[in-house]
Amino acid sequence: MSFAKNLKCRECGRDYPLDPIHVCEFCFGPLEVFYDYEAMGRAVTRDHIERGPPTMWRYAELLPCNPETAVDIGTGLTPLVRARNLGRLLGLERLYIKNDCQNPTWSFKDRVVSVATSVAREFEFDTLACASTGNLANSVAAHAARAGMKARVFIPGDLEQGKIIGSAIYSPTLVAVDGGYDEVNRLCSEVSDKYPWAFVNINMRPYYAEGSKTLGYEVGEQLGWRAPDHCIVPLASGSLYTKIYKGIKELAWLGLVEWQATRMSGAQAEGCSPIAEAWNRRSFLIKPQKPNTIAKSLAIGNPADGYYALKTMADTNGAAATVTDDEVVEGIQLLAETEGIFAETAGGVVISGLRRLIEDGHVRSDEVSLSAQPSTLLKQHSRNGTASSRRRGVRDDRQASREVHVCRVAHQGADHLETGPPVRNRHKHPARRRPGRPGLGDPGARRRARGDRPGSRLGS
Ligand SMILES: Cc1ncc(COP(=O)(O)O)c(C=O)c1O
Ligand SMILES: [Zn+2]
Repeated sequence: MSFAKNLKCRECGRDYPLDPIHVCEFCFGPLEVFYDYEAMGRAVTRDHIERGPPTMWRYAELLPCNPETAVDIGTGLTPLVRARNLGRLLGLERLYIKNDCQNPTWSFKDRVVSVATSVAREFEFDTLACASTGNLANSVAAHAARAGMKARVFIPGDLEQGKIIGSAIYSPTLVAVDGGYDEVNRLCSEVSDKYPWAFVNINMRPYYAEGSKTLGYEVGEQLGWRAPDHCIVPLASGSLYTKIYKGIKELAWLGLVEWQATRMSGAQAEGCSPIAEAWNRRSFLIKPQKPNTIAKSLAIGNPADGYYALKTMADTNGAAATVTDDEVVEGIQLLAETEGIFAETAGGVVISGLRRLIEDGHVRSDEVSLSAQPSTLLKQHSRNGTASSRRRGVRDDRQASREVHVCRVAHQGADHLETGPPVRNRHKHPARRRPGRPGLGDPGARRRARGDRPGSRLGS
């Protein structure tokens, strides 16, 4: 069973039922899942976890969904590699790499999407959607296929071809937006208000984000039930970073590991570093940036969890590093040459970021340090955001997979999307309450009261 009790506003602390909502109605703060830790502590033991499946679902009781109906595509329990060669080179005695490249769609996003899909099914949504920098799109398309749901995947128009194919193979409706991730995200916020879809990183976000905790749980278990001293994590929205820390704290609260006062540091590419920039200004105020970096999976100029990442950094005595695009490539090369791991640009960011943090004296040589490698480069081949990819990218991929509907939309808002035949059951909002749980009322009713235009649909 799940021990999730309610949603709680991270700002004003107001409680909400476990509904498909993500923002506090009073202060617009983000909502987060809150658990009955006492009951969880009585039920969850090391032994219980160790007897579980060899996937992230061995921690099902610590997640906000029903383990019996979880959508499991074999995500998690990825290798924790003792990086002796790289550690020696960098002067670290106990460096570990969490190799999340080995997830089913080759990135840590499978963790968050597994949880979001499971919860979306419990809420009886029939469509899974996302705003993505690429990896999330792959994972949403794959999970929708497994769950028998429709997939609507929104990506920046200049995405790498490998990442487009990594989604296209699962036959989602793929919508390429003329703009970067921040424009895609803005469009999707409007779309999620109009259509009864489970947007994993919008209306499902409180549940979705919880999936990243499993990376922290796994590291604790794989270190022999010990928390790391220091984690270095690539930052985009800042969600992975904050949730790894939440996972480590929960292991300690539940008595599964001893509290180590784990330090949390982050890394960004210079061309998109709003969190690191605020950190260097000693401010909690994020100034949004227009991304210009080869690290496309981290190219979020206005990070949703940026403030919380900065708070975690300050609370844990962590630090932030930025690296140039050349250093991103050097980081990828270094990791491949020393440890045989072929990571994508986010991996290059974290390895070169680690190097920078060592140079600046933020990492002690005797710390048990963890560097999270969240995705592989295999799907990032070919054009990498060049001018020609912006001109030709999506059309080329239409040829690459004739099964896929790729439509270009201007980022002028949901009203400007291509429309199609009416959605059946448009007025029957699928997000019914889960049995036995109190609800805030029917969110579909609120939408209908606002007079949303029925009968339009994205794509073809
Ligand atoms: C490979 C990779 N690493 C790290 C991240 C960081 O994720 P977050 O948005 O949770 O900070 C992302 C986000 O897209 C990613 O694709
Ligand atoms: Zn609030």
